[in-house]
Amino acid sequence: MRRSCTAWLAAVLCLAQGIAQATPVAATPPMGWNSWNYFAEKVTDADVRAAADAMVASGMRDAGYVYVNIDDGWQGQRDANGVIHSNARFPDMKALADYVHARGLKLGIYSSPGPKTCAGYAGSLGHEKQDAKTYAEWGVDYLKYDLCSFGELMKSTAPSNPEQQMRMMHEAYATMRTALNEAGRPIVYSLCQYGVDAVWEWAADPKVGANLWRTTGDIAPHGEFVYAIATMQAGLANYAGPGHWNDPDMLEVGNGDLTEAENRTHFSWWAMLAAPLLAGNDLAHMKPEVKAVLTRREVIAIDQDPLGKQGTRAYTDGEVEVWTKPLSHGGLAVAVFNVGDTRYAGTHPFRLDLKRLGLHGKQQGTDLWTGNAVTLDDHQVVGLASHDVWLVRIDAPHTAG
Ligand code: GLA
Repeated sequence: MRRSCTAWLAAVLCLAQGIAQATPVAATPPMGWNSWNYFAEKVTDADVRAAADAMVASGMRDAGYVYVNIDDGWQGQRDANGVIHSNARFPDMKALADYVHARGLKLGIYSSPGPKTCAGYAGSLGHEKQDAKTYAEWGVDYLKYDLCSFGELMKSTAPSNPEQQMRMMHEAYATMRTALNEAGRPIVYSLCQYGVDAVWEWAADPKVGANLWRTTGDIAPHGEFVYAIATMQAGLANYAGPGHWNDPDMLEVGNGDLTEAENRTHFSWWAMLAAPLLAGNDLAHMKPEVKAVLTRREVIAIDQDPLGKQGTRAYTDGEVEVWTKPLSHGGLAVAVFNVGDTRYAGTHPFRLDLKRLGLHGKQQGTDLWTGNAVTLDDHQVVGLASHDVWLVRIDAPHTAG
């Protein structure tokens, strides 16, 4: 490209391209929607268009959601040249990408380094360059790359050599990274291998160059699953930062049997974790209270804070989890999660010990779900219903004794 930068017009274009390349993708945790948690492998082109439309109509786009991601189930057959085609449910991927882009959104897609995806569709093994090129030609902006059958391939290739298996896995993810680089389009690279081999330790290495990586197995739309996954993120904060994020899986807000309190808790926890916020519900038919959670800007701002620090667990007390997240300009988010079924509701309030958060004296904050100003005392009483959350932003925390 640079070679052709002779005339001034070309020079301007080259400069613009240089700036675009220099701007990292996923500077803050990616926000969007993914088809899997609600539509699974039945997803269609019409579902994806409806999700894009709903993302605009609901105000989600204006609240920061960008990616409209098709998960497993779009793939058809490869042609005689090995080029992948979408199946009958997705008649024209380029047209679908255009539709999404016309709404100011971006399109995501899904594949596997193995011969087959988890739902049994064609994977990218041996076709990585071709597939990356095809995605770029369609206008794809995001790739979730899911280990699936590659796991079996690793085991059958090196049955008694776990180290070689891990090397194979690292190489498979690096191969697609190189292919994406060569395809010449900025594409967010999302690793999905369920946290195997402490993925957070190597996924951001430039050879692999992941922008996000799943840290656990699959989420499910039940409170216990959400809390179990959330607490498994303790200890991973140092691996996250602008351009590279721990991914505790897509949101289940609005799905399954999650109550309103659980939806709030789930969303708050993911925000505290600087997690990707990928809604996984049926956006076109969501209830107003679900939309209210997904578009709560004060909470989204915690997730998207430009400092890019993942929150950490300050302490636990019985069934209560207390987490903090440093924010830009010296601010601090404090979240208290009551994951218990019975205690601390109504007459049995929880006392938050500010000293254990490194805070001293009265603190001025904002309750991010009610919008109310709050003044916190050293032993702040938090009346917290079962499975609910108390989330506060303190703009100027007093930390001196
Ligand atoms: C795996 C992933 C899920 C989803 C399915 C699709 O289970 O972890 O997020 O992508 O595959 O088959």
